[in-house]
Amino acid sequence: MKKVLVITYSQSGQLDEIVNNVTGQLQEDTSVDIHFEKLIPEPAFPFPWTDISFWDAMPESVKMIPAKIRPVTFNPDEKYDLIILGYPIWFLSPPIPLTTFLKSEEARMVMKDTPVVTVIGARNMWVSAQEDIKKMIAENGGKLVGNIALHDRHQNLLSVVTIIYWMMTAKKDRYLGIFPKPGISDKDIQGAKRFGLPLHEALLSGNFASLHQKLLELNAAELSFDIVAAETRAKKIFHVWAGFIRKKGGPGDKERTGRLKMFKWYLLFVIFAVSPLASLVFYITYPLFFIKIRKNLRYYKGVTLR
Ligand SMILES: Cc1cc2nc3c(=O)[nH]c(=O)nc-3n(C[C@H](O)[C@H](O)[C@H](O)COP(=O)(O)O)c2cc1C
Repeated sequence: MKKVLVITYSQSGQLDEIVNNVTGQLQEDTSVDIHFEKLIPEPAFPFPWTDISFWDAMPESVKMIPAKIRPVTFNPDEKYDLIILGYPIWFLSPPIPLTTFLKSEEARMVMKDTPVVTVIGARNMWVSAQEDIKKMIAENGGKLVGNIALHDRHQNLLSVVTIIYWMMTAKKDRYLGIFPKPGISDKDIQGAKRFGLPLHEALLSGNFASLHQKLLELNAAELSFDIVAAETRAKKIFHVWAGFIRKKGGPGDKERTGRLKMFKWYLLFVIFAVSPLASLVFYITYPLFFIKIRKNLRYYKGVTLR
């Protein structure tokens, strides 16, 4: 009997649906015992979000400050053959409930010497968060053996508008009837079933060495260089903002509302006014940095830690 632990955090259920499809083939195999663990923050983060609560999640997401989650239901002393970790991205970082779990004693106990596959459901910027996750998995003694990252394929600015609409209303439908549907397309969510076969084979054989390569051949981690360039620069700036806001207090502190609003308007300005221009510059200078960019993308798609 192979034992699998699936740990997820999802607000809308989008990530859970993806993970359900990825693990569909494992679920059908009666020789595989799967424990599904949904992380539950206490108190829950709002969904739909209210304006300020949304921005208030930024500093602690970026600085990876743990909060509180409900005690996990699995036995951390138990040895699993595989752990699947599914998560969305919050402000280019792991969401607070996932950080809270990964920095817990239970995570340290259960992950030690265990293969881990990550499953991401993002808008389109996930590489910085995955770097944070890689480090936390390594600190817990786990071994990252695969990554599946799905994203919204719509144009960057369109997906910003639609995700804000979705997050603020909890409605995954077409804003004003003209914008595309927010989030990852139904086709891509259904298509995540294709990752089931290599995952199943690796689990049964106990050999995860070639799993990630097989996942990559199925387009498990697609990246565009201008988005990666923008997000890796932005993550550094987010760290500065997070420190600046945290000087006024912790989550929910009224004192920091002014700085959160400053961050909100800064970010919207950068996204809508600066990023199209920056993308143009990235494209024009692409040939000059071709080798470096290719090397970086290969690294970010991979499961190793620099
Ligand atoms: C507070 C917050 C910040 C987010 N920041 C990002 C981000 O930086 N990059 C990104 O690709 N998606 C971002 N998203 C979108 C999520 O990655 C995800 O696609 C969406 O929240 C749906 O996930 P769910 O399964 O939890 O419902 C953010 C969502 C929230 C709620």
